[in-house]
Amino acid sequence: MKNKISVIILAAGKGSRMKSSVPKVIHKVAGKPLLLHVINQCETLPVENIYVILSKNSGEIKKILPEKVKVIIQDKQLGTAHALMCARKKLLNYAGKIVVLYGDVPLIKSTTIKKLISKTISKPTLLGFNTDNPKGYGRVILNKNKVMKVIEEKHADRKIKNIKFCNSGIFCIPAKMLFDLLKNIKLNPQSREFLLTDIFELAAINKNECSVIKTDHSEVLGINDKFQLSLVEAKYQNLLREKFLRKGVTIISPETVIFSHDTKISSDVTIGAFTCFGEKVVIKSEVKIDNNCSIKESIISEGSSLGPFCRLRNKNFIDKKVKIGNFVELKKARIGKNTKINHLTYIGDAIIGSNSNIGAGTITCNYDGKNKNLTRIGNNVFIGSNCSLIAPINISDDCFVAAGSTISKSLSKKDFSIARARQKIIKKGSYKFLKN
Ligand code: UD1
Ligand code: MG
Repeated sequence: MKNKISVIILAAGKGSRMKSSVPKVIHKVAGKPLLLHVINQCETLPVENIYVILSKNSGEIKKILPEKVKVIIQDKQLGTAHALMCARKKLLNYAGKIVVLYGDVPLIKSTTIKKLISKTISKPTLLGFNTDNPKGYGRVILNKNKVMKVIEEKHADRKIKNIKFCNSGIFCIPAKMLFDLLKNIKLNPQSREFLLTDIFELAAINKNECSVIKTDHSEVLGINDKFQLSLVEAKYQNLLREKFLRKGVTIISPETVIFSHDTKISSDVTIGAFTCFGEKVVIKSEVKIDNNCSIKESIISEGSSLGPFCRLRNKNFIDKKVKIGNFVELKKARIGKNTKINHLTYIGDAIIGSNSNIGAGTITCNYDGKNKNLTRIGNNVFIGSNCSLIAPINISDDCFVAAGSTISKSLSKKDFSIARARQKIIKKGSYKFLKN
């Protein structure tokens, strides 16, 4: 790639078919906004500039953009050709090639963009795909493998609708040719928009016929509504599942497990059914995750086990060989080696040492209505079942807390503490409460 290359990503559309107040390109696939999927692929390429075309009210989108991405504003959404025209001022004298990408086509791979760039010498190249379900896509009219025209679905008659070769929206073109051709695109009388797809017919008329390269439909699935969003999510999840399975992760029922775009899992990990990963999770080797766990922003170290039915909310660090059992919720918790928290427990804003045992039903009472407070539990501590630990509190190494205690005062090393009402027994006294 000796030539200069810049990328322009179109992302200013209204996205009205999403029927959502959230801008289309920040809807997420595997936890990552659509637009970032596209940008991240470009970042691995030797491109000079990445421009994103946004509408005036796109503050929310700007917030997620990497620093080096440059924003160009399209004041009025007058169509895809008009969106590109907004980049004219910046790139009019640009001597390189332009790659046009769509913010709502997120699964595009950098390798495909590379191919598109190398095929583009003096004439444009379009990325197309064949599909048995072309509904909604522009149909590409070819003659000897050159693009004569692209016709949008809404302007197509029945014969055109039967064409199965479609426009992905993605193409590469010398910059000067792009802006020369764009000038000549007229407002489409039916859709009242300037359609970028008209550029291909104009190029053919000017003897600059566009070539095509083909890719799989699954790589260029476009997202215009929530149904298509779900199709892309499903496709991406399958890619992630395959990646982990081939890496040596055992996934008992892969189709039920949901990963985040950034999930990191080592080999020899086992994952049960219906487990979901949010962002920023790292699972080290030989961890066992049983069914129905929800794990976010957490590091799980070697040989630990989780679940079934546990919830790790955010900012947790689980050291080696820890056991987190069913119906345990952790938040901002640091759990030391070999510690066991096996049943029905909430641990929030807590640091727990190694070899400790937290009994069933233990609650760290971390919130006093105003502030979140810290619970510290040392090494070799035994907390009996059904204890409330009222933070801020410090339970030092080798302490023993009796079951059913509400602990509000800190304990020093090796202390024993019990804090519950003394049990009363009335011999043969049950008759007062039983009917017979
Ligand atoms: C477009 C193509 C269609 C192709 C399909 C592939 C056109 C006219 N049609 O249709 O041939 O098969 O993508 O997915 O291009 N946008 C702007 N400004 C605007 C309008 C749109 O920036 O004024 C942006 C949108 O944010 C979006 C992209 O351009 O990222 C495509 O627009 P969209 O309305 O989704 O076009 P499609 O109907 O999908
Ligand atoms: Mg679209």
